[in-house]
Amino acid sequence: MQPKVIIHGGAGSSLGGKGGVEVVRQSLYQIVDELYGLLQNNTSALDVVVRGCQLLEDEPRFNAGTGSVLQSDGQIRMSASLMDGLSHRFSGVINVSRIKNPIDVANSLQASPDRVLSDNGAAEFVRELGLSVYNPLTDKRLNEWLEDRKQNFSRSMADVIAESPGTGTIGVVALDTEGRLAAGTSTGGKGFEKIGRVSDSAMPAGNYATGSAGISCTGIGEDIIDECLAAKIVIRVTDGFSMKAAFERSFAEAHEHKRDLGAIGIDANGIIAWGKTSDVILAAFHDGHKKGDSLEVQKGTQIFVAE
Ligand code: GLY
Repeated sequence: MQPKVIIHGGAGSSLGGKGGVEVVRQSLYQIVDELYGLLQNNTSALDVVVRGCQLLEDEPRFNAGTGSVLQSDGQIRMSASLMDGLSHRFSGVINVSRIKNPIDVANSLQASPDRVLSDNGAAEFVRELGLSVYNPLTDKRLNEWLEDRKQNFSRSMADVIAESPGTGTIGVVALDTEGRLAAGTSTGGKGFEKIGRVSDSAMPAGNYATGSAGISCTGIGEDIIDECLAAKIVIRVTDGFSMKAAFERSFAEAHEHKRDLGAIGIDANGIIAWGKTSDVILAAFHDGHKKGDSLEVQKGTQIFVAE
């Protein structure tokens, strides 16, 4: 089967604050190229998704792993999840600190009877895994937090994408040569949120896959949860909708409900898609013939479904 991959580095109002279109494109394409090479070497969709999430978490430009935003108390708490479409198994970690790659914790939990861990339990599990202590803080994120502190935390979330409030997340969906699908999503959250706030990125609302389709979401977590977006699109496809019809209907609903979000996905036939209600979604894909991206599309609600 012709393998496919799509990745994202968040959604929001503009990508100016990330260094501009060409810088973001280069960063996303470099990752897409590495992932496509792995797929061509028959690496499983699950392993490719984990590797893609690691690379995106390591890129400080995006809000996940290194470069995660700070919460209201000045701490970084990260969340990530992984779903294997073949085993139909979801695993995730919620509000974990002081590690480099939260997706590695979600991956280790794939084989566990307890597959979603949070806070103290997640910290204990990280210790059991023997992961090195790592500080994902960057100067940019610290300065954002210090600026907001001067205003007594007047903003409701961090400037994750650019000059105006937005949201950031990273995600990967892959279809491998055996026809297996997997999806992974990782985030530092909204930024400046209350302690204990749970992100959609470690829920089936934000990340979901079956044998029929895989979806990773980005945007305001509460909006994604209210739409139950990833699971809704995947279940529509699993129940017989085409990928196009599932994206059209789900994004029409999200638009009507005035949500601020985006999603990427691939179905079992290899149809690649992205959609957004936000002004920008930073998505890039490889369909086996060429790379493409969503970096220079019109603002507002839009979907793309490759034929
Ligand atoms: N979508 C990421 C978050 O809201 O936490």
